[in-house]
Amino acid sequence: MKISATIQSLINEQINLELASAHLYMAMASYFLEAELRGFGNFFIVQVQEENYHAMKHFHFLHEVGGRLQLRTIEAPIDKFENPRHVFQIALEHEEKVTKAIYHLIDAALQEKDFATYTFLEWFVKEQIEEENLMRTILRKLEMIGDNTSALFFLNEELSKRSYEPSNGEKEE
Ligand SMILES: [Fe+2]
Ligand SMILES: [Fe+2]
Repeated sequence: MKISATIQSLINEQINLELASAHLYMAMASYFLEAELRGFGNFFIVQVQEENYHAMKHFHFLHEVGGRLQLRTIEAPIDKFENPRHVFQIALEHEEKVTKAIYHLIDAALQEKDFATYTFLEWFVKEQIEEENLMRTILRKLEMIGDNTSALFFLNEELSKRSYEPSNGEKEE
């Protein structure tokens, strides 16, 4: 069954939102590399790859259900950050916005009894729990760290170990 024009449009919006997420996290990676906090920089470089992967996951689904890609303009993200805490506050708020968009899309799919889209989106519901939790955990750590530079470098070291694993270790369908 082909997806409706409404669902097609919402999936395209979601693709743009995932790409916009990649842009935002690239700006954050750059902020940290400039500040010589390379572990944090690495964390966001991996995050860029995750977001591009999300966009492509929607892209493939769109084609599987007879949809058409309609790319839209992506506005330049914020690129001035006050401090690491500010970065993670924005990242958390951004992930919460993405979660809302996924919920909205699920709501629309259920209204149309489009169970194919609904089932596809379940993966993103779980993914968003992880994404929000990840940003929230680091934000809390940064709040505890405060002005303690050695604690900040310790966290920076921890984040330098993050590497990209497609689908967070889950097998690609
Ligand atoms: Fe995403
Ligand atoms: Fe995300």
